Amino acid sequence: MLTVAIVYHSGFGHTTKLAEAATKGAQSLAGTTAYCFSTDDIDAAAWQVLNNADAIIFGAPTYMGAVSAGFKDFMDKSGKLWLDQKWKDKIAAGFTTSGSYSGDKLAVLQQLAGFAAQHGMIWISLGLKPGDSPEDGANTHVMNRLGSYLGAMARSTSDSPEVTPPKGDLDTAYYLGRRVAELTQHFKTGSQLLNDGITSNGAHSNGVHKVVVN
Ligand SMILES: Cc1cc2nc3c(=O)[nH]c(=O)nc-3n(C[C@H](O)[C@H](O)[C@H](O)COP(=O)(O)O)c2cc1C
Repeated sequence: MLTVAIVYHSGFGHTTKLAEAATKGAQSLAGTTAYCFSTDDIDAAAWQVLNNADAIIFGAPTYMGAVSAGFKDFMDKSGKLWLDQKWKDKIAAGFTTSGSYSGDKLAVLQQLAGFAAQHGMIWISLGLKPGDSPEDGANTHVMNRLGSYLGAMARSTSDSPEVTPPKGDLDTAYYLGRRVAELTQHFKTGSQLLNDGITSNGAHSNGVHKVVVN
């Protein structure tokens, strides 16, 4: 059983759409339970789920070239956990949306990756080549049309979240959720195999030996 948590902030509902898509993507891997939390109503039980999760995907809208204040508040509150490195070696990834094609979304993904690193987490990239997006931006159905690598990017126009971000961006968030679940499963299985081998006789049957650093 694998647990992936998605935690996000959204002022007007656009980031919520991405969070829902990422949650569905993670859930699409058999044996995965995905939880989705808004930072607006995160409670003690939600913090517990985050502490127990195998992976956490962070989502924030780009406000003034940075994560929104709502998400930053969550980041600051997580400082209590940083002290004990409670999230160390969990898998992490992130997504953001903004009004402009760029709008400094990269700064937000970098902020999220740095945040994950402070917690000792392992950052997963998007893993998609840039989608085919012509000058007129018409290919809104194409995944990774904005050509991001560090995480999933979306562009929301001034329309309501029912209309924007478009399908290609939601599919990109779904893809990221699925990718995180798959890679977390690989990581967890590998760790388990190594632990089993090492604790039984100090050396794994495939020749992997425990390394002792003096
Ligand atoms: C306070 C504020 C600051 C914003 N700053 C940026 C920005 O720096 N770059 C940009 O492209 N869009 C910016 N936007 C637009 C939002 O990123 C965009 O509307 C986004 O889809 C909002 O997501 P949400 O509905 O989840 O809050 C800003 C919007 C607000 C309300």
